[in-house]
Amino acid sequence: MAVSVVFFTLLAIRGVIIKAFREELEKRAVSIAGNLSDRVANHVLLKDYFQASKDIEEVRNKENDVEYIFVTNEEGKVVAHTFISEIPPGILTWNPLADKTTNVQLLDTEKGFIRDVGVKVFNGTKSELHLGIREDKLKQTLSQVRGLTFPVIVFVTLLGVAASFIFSRLITEPLNKFVEFTKVLGRGEFGKRVDVPYGGEIGYLARNFNRLSMELKKVKEKMEEAYTYTHLLQAEKLSTIGQISAGLGHELKNPITTLKMLFQAFKEQPDLTKEDAEVISKEIEKIDTIITRFLGFVKQKSFHYSEINLNALIDRVLSLASFDVRNYGISVQKDMMETLPEIKGDRSLLEHVFLNLILNSVQAMPDGGEIRISGKTDDKFVEVMIWDKGCGIPADIRSKVFDPFFTTKESGTGLGLSIAYNIVKSHGGKLFFHSNEGAGTVFTVRLPVGE
Ligand SMILES: Nc1ncnc2c1ncn2[C@@H]1O[C@H](COP(=O)(O)OP(=O)(O)OP(=O)(O)O)[C@@H](O)[C@H]1O
Ligand SMILES: [Mg+2]
Repeated sequence: MAVSVVFFTLLAIRGVIIKAFREELEKRAVSIAGNLSDRVANHVLLKDYFQASKDIEEVRNKENDVEYIFVTNEEGKVVAHTFISEIPPGILTWNPLADKTTNVQLLDTEKGFIRDVGVKVFNGTKSELHLGIREDKLKQTLSQVRGLTFPVIVFVTLLGVAASFIFSRLITEPLNKFVEFTKVLGRGEFGKRVDVPYGGEIGYLARNFNRLSMELKKVKEKMEEAYTYTHLLQAEKLSTIGQISAGLGHELKNPITTLKMLFQAFKEQPDLTKEDAEVISKEIEKIDTIITRFLGFVKQKSFHYSEINLNALIDRVLSLASFDVRNYGISVQKDMMETLPEIKGDRSLLEHVFLNLILNSVQAMPDGGEIRISGKTDDKFVEVMIWDKGCGIPADIRSKVFDPFFTTKESGTGLGLSIAYNIVKSHGGKLFFHSNEGAGTVFTVRLPVGE
């Protein structure tokens, strides 16, 4: 683009130069011819053609771009001229003056354009003076302009490159950074900053973006706080055993009613079918599980504290769960930090927590899959995470999964998570989860190191 701009500019300049030069050349030639005509008039009148020739020769020698001069007498015969050899034929037809006193005629010759300026020496006669002037100086100037073209094009191109570089540094680069930054925000990584120089409109935009990022971070933190707070409320809900007992009573009512009805029927007609026996055994099993789980937790009067190595504890839980894990076709990947600090807690209760979480993950992947158990620490807390790629927890039941007796499983008691929640809480820790419906769930057990 720069090259073509320069090219056309120079073309326009060239046009202007040529026009101005030709006007100037014509004026000069007319003036020289006029003056010379006055000088030779007398000699022509006196027929002193020798002197006339001397005068015109003198002018031709002085003016470098004058190609020729010739003078005619009253009869129109050439009487003095500067042609070196013979007079070119048809010379009088080049620029016939007729009745005019002055005329300029452009002649296209082998030597380039020549302007023939004719002036009358004596009005009303055929005595004329003709002067041919070349465009030498114009050619020189034009070749100078041409000589300038290349360096100017190079200069302007460099200028263009420099300008686009500066433009890209000032505008394009920051804009690209903004695009990247919106992606960062889109990923929910709030609190990060876009790094562009603070100045001008871009700087203003950057300041606003950064403020937005900080505000989003605060909102996110508040939401997380609120989330944790709901969990604390949950713990409150669970803290009274009475509440659980009420739920327990309610849960037991259904199987007991079924049994009652069946026994009622036996009283009248005491033959037991295979189906009846299966129903009875299933209902009794359900009652048994509910009561065992519930009592297991309620009976625990005091904790048996000991130093616990979570790595070893998880290994033991995995061996307890190995039957289900294998049965469901699930692979377990354990990548815990080797150097996790020991924590203080009740071994069997914590085993209960992890067993529940692992079994939930297993049950969430009926067609097999992968469970990952990871552990890390910041020296104040240890976090163990159980990741699965199972069905996930639908958004509308997320607030209920810690409720006692809330279950979506046919044979579930719905006590697993509520008991696990309470155990972790009583250890001064937290149990929480993140889930994507259809993609998987991760449960995090966060326990304090030390006391
Ligand atoms: N990892 C998980 N993936 C998907 N859903 C889960 C997961 N963990 C828990 N849930 C959901 O939360 C509900 C409550 O879980 P909880 O462990 O308290 O009871 P349960 O597993 O249904 O019954 P139980 O623990 O007695 O077998 C489950 O029924 C299930 O819908
Ligand atoms: Mg469970």
